[in-house]
Amino acid sequence: MGFLAKKIMTVLVTGGAGFIGSHTCVELLNSGYDVVIIDNLVNSSAKAVDRIEQITGKKVAFYEVDVRNRAALDRIFERHAISCAIHFAGLKAVGESVQMPLEYYDNNLFCTVRLCEAMRDHGCKNIIFSSSATVYTGTDPMPLREDSITGGCTNPYGWTKYMSEQILRDMAKADSDWSVLLLRYFNPIGAHPSGLIGEDPRGIPNNLMPYISQVAIGRLPYLNVFGDDYDTPDGTGIRDYIHVCDLASGHVAAIRYMLEHRGESVFNLGTGQGYSVLDIVKSFERVTGVKIPYKIGARRAGDLPVTYASPDKSAAILGWKAKYDLDDMCRDSWNWQKKNPNGYGDRAQDSQE
Ligand code: NAD
Ligand code: UFG
Repeated sequence: MGFLAKKIMTVLVTGGAGFIGSHTCVELLNSGYDVVIIDNLVNSSAKAVDRIEQITGKKVAFYEVDVRNRAALDRIFERHAISCAIHFAGLKAVGESVQMPLEYYDNNLFCTVRLCEAMRDHGCKNIIFSSSATVYTGTDPMPLREDSITGGCTNPYGWTKYMSEQILRDMAKADSDWSVLLLRYFNPIGAHPSGLIGEDPRGIPNNLMPYISQVAIGRLPYLNVFGDDYDTPDGTGIRDYIHVCDLASGHVAAIRYMLEHRGESVFNLGTGQGYSVLDIVKSFERVTGVKIPYKIGARRAGDLPVTYASPDKSAAILGWKAKYDLDDMCRDSWNWQKKNPNGYGDRAQDSQE
């Protein structure tokens, strides 16, 4: 043969039917990777998998399986030549984690441990883990750098991220064949520009952008702004919002780095730019032409006044930078919400709302 066939690499994506996972699968498929998804659909819909295939025109292997099911993991590793895993699967609602700590520790920690055991036993030692800005104490000056102080989490969800990071770090220390990337996400919003995939929270949203979108579509009457007496220019909380497609491309950059390096590294995925709650409301109104009524209420317990990332390390080492701006994020969140007023609309809890 006059040419060498390019080897297609297979990426295992746990939680691939979820918000960030589905966007990352699109980015991976568009970058030439094969994708195997494991998701038990506890917070997502199988329709997201169909939509990933619709957007990319490519097939994915999908297993409706709990990541804690070791026997099922073994079968999947035997069937597919998996080169690396991106581990998104986990429960993520902060308030719920305070009510149900055991379920959160069980799900989030044992997913991480079972997955790594299966990976080790099948000789696949490259993992990217979905961590969070929530691991930072937030007491250091902004912007938060990867070496800013972590710990002191205010809820069990945050501790599961902190503890999973530690488990993965210890694993990489004990066996130098592992390549472990801990990615700390800031505040992902937006949706794929097609409007085919997006964020589909259960019940009343906890997070700002899905709440605003549901006010805009008429499912909720007004936004509660959690405090306007912070020491910020307009008194409302400031966060580092990042378009979910930028976050997705950050994972593709991370894979390239991971496959060329061993050991453990940590990277922020944020823009480095902070916006207040009222900045988001104004941008959403300007971009969509829809008025967002709001009422100023009390602060939400556990909220920090201001958090935003230093994206410098990711730019320097991964060669990755966010490219979408706040208006893009608002436009794409609204496009998804408008085209899918009830999200994917096929979960039992959706019909109870
Ligand atoms: P999501 O809930 O949309 O996606 C998580 C997916 O994991 C869901 O599809 C869910 O069904 C699946 N899942 C949960 N437990 C599972 C299990 N035991 N077995 C198999 N599948 C399971 O959430 P997301 O926003 O896409 O977040 C993805 C990851 O990123 C999570 O680990 C989350 O903690 C982390 N993260 C999210 C944010 C955010 O603001 N969205 C910020 C920082 C970190
Ligand atoms: N906010 C409101 N009203 C709402 C919802 C939020 O005013 O109805 C405000 C909050 O007080 C905060 C900002 O909007 O100032 C953003 O709040 P989110 O709940 O959208 O996001 P958080 O920064 O509180 O937390 C989210 C995830 C965490 C994750 C963190 C960083 O919920 O799990 O982003 O990635 F760790």
